[in-house]
Amino acid sequence: MERICFLKSSAVLWMLYILACFTRPTEGNSIDQSALLSLKESITIDPNQLTVKNWSINASVCSWIGVTCNSRHHRVAELNLPNMALEGSIPPQLGNLSFIVYLNLSGNSFHGKLPQELANLRRLKFMDFGINVFTGFLPQTILNISTLQILILQKNNLSGNLPEDICHHAPNLRLLSLADNRLTGTIPSSISGCTQLRILALEGNNLTGSIPREIGNLTMLKTLYLDSNNLEGFIPQELGSMNGLERLNLQANSLSGSVPANLFNMTTLRILGLTQNHFSGRLPSNIGYGMPNLEKLYLDVNNLNGVIPDSISNYSKLMLLDLSANEFTGLIPNTFGNLRFLEVLGLNQNNLESDQELSFINSLAGCKYLQEFTTGGNPLNGILPASIGNISNLETIDMSFCGIKGDIPKQIECLGNVSSLRNLYLGFNKLTSSIPVSLWKLKDILQFNLTSNLLSGSLPSEISSLKALNLLDLSLNQFSGDIPSTISEIPNLINISLASNKFEGTIPDSIGKLISLEMLDLSNNSLTGMIPKSLEALQHLTRFNVSFNELSGEIPSGGPFENFTYQSFMSNNAICGKPQFHVPPCQGSSHSSSEKIVLLAVLIPTTASAAITLVIVLLLSRYRKRQVQAQADSLPDIMPERISYYQLQRATDDFSNSNLLGRGSFGSVFKGSFTDGTLVAIKVFQLQLEGAFKSFETECAVLRNLRHRNLTKVISSCSNLDFKALVLEYMPNGSLEKWMHSNGHFLDIVQRLNIMTDVACAVKYLHHGYSPPVVHCDLKPSNILLDQDMVGHVSDFGIAKLFGEEETLRHTMTLATLGYIAPEYGAEGLVSTSCDVYSYGILLMETFTRRRPTDEMFSEDSSLRSWIANSIPHAIDRVVDANLISPEEKNVSRKLNCISSITEMAVNCSAESPGNRPSMKDVVASLQKIKVQLLAYS
Ligand SMILES: *[C@@H]1O[C@H](CO)[C@@H](O)[C@H](O)[C@H]1NC(C)=O
Ligand SMILES: *[C@@H]1O[C@H](CO)[C@@H](O)[C@H](O)[C@H]1NC(C)=O
Ligand SMILES: *[C@@H]1O[C@H](CO)[C@@H](O)[C@H](O)[C@H]1NC(C)=O
Ligand SMILES: *[C@@H]1O[C@H](CO)[C@@H](O)[C@H](O)[C@H]1NC(C)=O
Ligand SMILES: *[C@@H]1O[C@H](CO)[C@@H](O)[C@H](O)[C@H]1NC(C)=O
Ligand SMILES: *[C@@H]1O[C@H](CO)[C@@H](O)[C@H](O)[C@H]1NC(C)=O
Repeated sequence: MERICFLKSSAVLWMLYILACFTRPTEGNSIDQSALLSLKESITIDPNQLTVKNWSINASVCSWIGVTCNSRHHRVAELNLPNMALEGSIPPQLGNLSFIVYLNLSGNSFHGKLPQELANLRRLKFMDFGINVFTGFLPQTILNISTLQILILQKNNLSGNLPEDICHHAPNLRLLSLADNRLTGTIPSSISGCTQLRILALEGNNLTGSIPREIGNLTMLKTLYLDSNNLEGFIPQELGSMNGLERLNLQANSLSGSVPANLFNMTTLRILGLTQNHFSGRLPSNIGYGMPNLEKLYLDVNNLNGVIPDSISNYSKLMLLDLSANEFTGLIPNTFGNLRFLEVLGLNQNNLESDQELSFINSLAGCKYLQEFTTGGNPLNGILPASIGNISNLETIDMSFCGIKGDIPKQIECLGNVSSLRNLYLGFNKLTSSIPVSLWKLKDILQFNLTSNLLSGSLPSEISSLKALNLLDLSLNQFSGDIPSTISEIPNLINISLASNKFEGTIPDSIGKLISLEMLDLSNNSLTGMIPKSLEALQHLTRFNVSFNELSGEIPSGGPFENFTYQSFMSNNAICGKPQFHVPPCQGSSHSSSEKIVLLAVLIPTTASAAITLVIVLLLSRYRKRQVQAQADSLPDIMPERISYYQLQRATDDFSNSNLLGRGSFGSVFKGSFTDGTLVAIKVFQLQLEGAFKSFETECAVLRNLRHRNLTKVISSCSNLDFKALVLEYMPNGSLEKWMHSNGHFLDIVQRLNIMTDVACAVKYLHHGYSPPVVHCDLKPSNILLDQDMVGHVSDFGIAKLFGEEETLRHTMTLATLGYIAPEYGAEGLVSTSCDVYSYGILLMETFTRRRPTDEMFSEDSSLRSWIANSIPHAIDRVVDANLISPEEKNVSRKLNCISSITEMAVNCSAESPGNRPSMKDVVASLQKIKVQLLAYS
């Protein structure tokens, strides 16, 4: 009976069928069951054992995980298995689920062709097979399901042309996404037959030809994404008359001609992306009147010319305006201040001018939300006005290469008041005088680049107030005097360039404390004395230059000096050392008295804790033999800030499955390799997922401003309207999760302690090293990544929270991971730094017991925490990971003592009440003490 029902669909049989199903529900149900069992059999990998364990023939299909039945017939109405890391193919029997309405298998690794039989799903309204690895041509049969409203096949490997009669049989289609496949050919004009379409996403394919004018007939369309293809020709006029369109993205194609004037008249448009094409011509002078709802306007990287019309300031909702890399001329309008919601203003690389007073900057004070403005590479040739200090939320100013002149003191003393300022780029201008005192008060500034100006004066010891600074470039100026030794009190400095100035005196020994330092360029000054041996402790230092000074004495040879070449030391007075440096050998023994003095100077502690820290650093460096990362070495010197979709596509072999490193709640992470051999990790956000967009923005916002040796470093990002990815440092050793819980992996006690100290340092930095504080919110083993030297790096800031100045507590929707989540966060959504301390405590317990907080041995009334709390200190050997301790060892009791101290602290960290938990500062201090004990005896 049922078979007939499936094969024919005449009305009579249909009725009979319904009747049959109604009277004999179990039989219909058994068809569904065998269809789903076929699927189960076709699944070759199911890491969470979802279908393996749960889809049992002894239970009704309606109770199976991911399955929902309709209440009338008890037939399968929904199959919902997204992001389950399933691998396998789709069996033709899936086409037998004749009552199914909703089918979602997205975000898995299903491969092979989509079976024709899916066309039998006569009730299907929603189908999402996106983000899998399906191959073959786009099956026309699926487009024959007349009930279909939503079809998502994005991010697969589908090839071939779009069917000519694409919309003939799918009149109800509202959303069609075929984005990020390998589709070729042209966009058929018959697309206009899908009259109900709201969203059409064809981006990221290899479509050619021009945009068919018939698209203009899709009157319901709100979103049209055609970006990142090979489309050519002009934009058809018809596009400009689509009333209702809200998002239009055509970027990264080869479109040309002028932009039709009526496009700028689309009243409903919110986002318009035309970046990276060959558009030419001028903007209409009334551009600002036609799109009252516009929020983002991307016109960068084209050949647009003429002036920027004043009327552009009439967009009352505009948040982003990017006109960079065009051929705009004339004056920068003085009216941008009317754009009250503007956050980003990009004017880089044009031929724009301004008046002598740069008066457009005065007007920007009206933009209360402005975070970033860039005018780099325009011949502004004016004087910086004091009013630049009035832009209250500014984070980034890039006015490099603008011919700006004048004294800083008279013109911008006010900048010291812009406490939000993070990045100041004023390189390659003609600024004179010394740096005003107020600039040394920017305690949150991260990057300070004033290279190649005419600045003079000396650096004050107050430079140490720039507590958050990562990058200091004062090269190619006329600075003089000593390098203040207080520079070592800026804990996170990574790049320092003071090259080509008139600095004199000695290189401060204290620079050896800047353990994050990667670049130190002091060349072309008048420095004297020795190169401090303390610099041997700088394990991340890869670029070092002290050439063209008046240095003397022995060149250190340990640590990073092993790999420096003679160019780093060229042209100094009386310098000696190893032959590799092309200098004469030193006289006498290598333990000359002067060297001892240097060593002593390093080791004489200012405070006791500094001594401990230093000893630990030295011990650690010996124990772990951490090496400067070869990868970091080979990163191209100037990695573009933004990277294109195509570069990423190439680097990941078109996001191939063999490069997939893992999937998370917001998307996938791929391994990528660039043509020069650089390896990276590429985190692609699945924007269709609720929250993924937010997650990208959050992660960018957090990582943009943070740098620490124990946080994963962002190398670059790729952000189009509909594709967002972060390019991250590649971590060859995978995650702590892998090392703790998979076969064939083992970490010894010191490795575990080191990694957990790395994590603690990173979280301490998030909480205390940076203002406003950042709460990570999702510390767990899979978010701790290990580099080639097994150094821990905290990653995944997708749900992190940035706090405002006075804020310490926040309410939020909970997304964090069960087992690691603090009770007040889980139950009430209260986020504070104490939540991270809690998760850290759990993580610490897991690391030393090798038990997950979700282990089945724990229940309602016993938890990982209580199990451990009840066992310290007397029965610590019962809870500790047995692999860590072997009874024959002689130091067993000392090891156990250390583990006992660690777990005790972990128990305190995960105290029920947030007020009873220690701060990360305390945690780091305690760990360091424990580590000294452990290493002293091992
Ligand atoms: C399968 O999972 C569902 C939902 O989690 C649960 O209700 C059901 O009891 C499970 N069935 C089996 C056999 O494990
Ligand atoms: C797109 O098509 C062109 C030729 O039509 C081809 O050279 C190019 O490699 C294709 N790009 C991709 C990413 O497949
Ligand atoms: C599109 O609409 C125009 C009128 O605006 C009509 O003449 C044309 O036939 C339509 N094209 C299609 C393919 O529906
Ligand atoms: C844009 O709209 C304005 C006002 O409605 C109208 O005067 C103008 O002609 C329109 N321009 C184009 C090119 O459609
Ligand atoms: C400072 O800015 C200039 C100009 O943009 C750039 O070339 C230089 O690399 C920057 N300095 C550092 C240390 O990044
Ligand atoms: C020197 O470079 C080699 C090769 O790149 C590397 O293996 C080694 O760890 C480096 N040594 C130091 C101390 O950085």
